[in-house]
Amino acid sequence: MPDSRTSDASELQLTADGQLRHLLTLRGLSRDQLTALLDRADAFVSTPGSAVMRSDTLQGRTVANLFFEASTRTRASFELATRRLGGDILNLDIQTSSSAKGETVLDTISTLMAMNVDVFVVRSGRTNTHADIARHVNEHVSILNAGESVISHPTQGLLDLLTIRRKKGPFENLVVTIVGDVAHSRVAQSAMQGLVTMGVGELRVVTPPSLAPGPDCVHEARILTSLSEGLHGADVVMALRIQKERFTHNEGIPDVDAYFSEYGLTQKRMQQAAKDAIVMHPGPMNRGVEIEASLADGPSSVISEQVRNGVAVRMAVLEAVTNRKP
Ligand code: CP
Repeated sequence: MPDSRTSDASELQLTADGQLRHLLTLRGLSRDQLTALLDRADAFVSTPGSAVMRSDTLQGRTVANLFFEASTRTRASFELATRRLGGDILNLDIQTSSSAKGETVLDTISTLMAMNVDVFVVRSGRTNTHADIARHVNEHVSILNAGESVISHPTQGLLDLLTIRRKKGPFENLVVTIVGDVAHSRVAQSAMQGLVTMGVGELRVVTPPSLAPGPDCVHEARILTSLSEGLHGADVVMALRIQKERFTHNEGIPDVDAYFSEYGLTQKRMQQAAKDAIVMHPGPMNRGVEIEASLADGPSSVISEQVRNGVAVRMAVLEAVTNRKP
């Protein structure tokens, strides 16, 4: 059952005639809508070493990256996506912006809207910030969620779907297993929402009881505590980062060695999965904690492809929200 925050966000993101205006959550988007974004992103995927696809879709448009939490992949890929579509990109340095003097997020947004920013890409550790901004901005302006607290990371969800589809084909034939700190993972939330919408054959979540997902988790997921059970015959295995920065005082961060010995993904353990199973990780990785370094760098790993597909997905999303018909 979606909570009021996410259902509110899913209602805000579409125009009255069903076009994507903002991307706040994957919840509420239909299989056809996700498929259209994935198909468009597929066309933007570039082969390493070959020239990247470019267009002038964003010519005359300005995108602003507002990251209130750290990022390498998401922020860089939105910047590259904007440039490859011919737009201008503004990377606001939050630490040295007037945020540091107490300016509210909405005042910062209004200030940048006055400079003709058309799309805001926002990462925030707070829930509801994205929806609040979406309610505040002018009609032609779009908000893209680049990570919201522990509840949503929709473009990561899309790039995970694209990577799985490109490597493994139709979702309905697949067993997908997500392993790790699901309690603190917005990546897992969006991946699970997208996988269920796309009709995944079986969705398993393997986690110690202390890191199990909350009541907002999609109810289709089978929650397991045994890694062996979760890996058995899996076609896709996604490891999650232990998000030390999100643990509260009461929770207690797991002992790293104990965690690795019970839940760490290793080449040996992956032998329980399907023979041609792929290994995913959203990054950044804690090597030797949730994933063995040799597995992360080995032939079954698609981690670099996830990153590459992230640029393509962000191009597709930027194009979709800026190509809205009046
Ligand atoms: N996967 C992901 O969101 O990575 P960054 O934190 O580096 O953007």
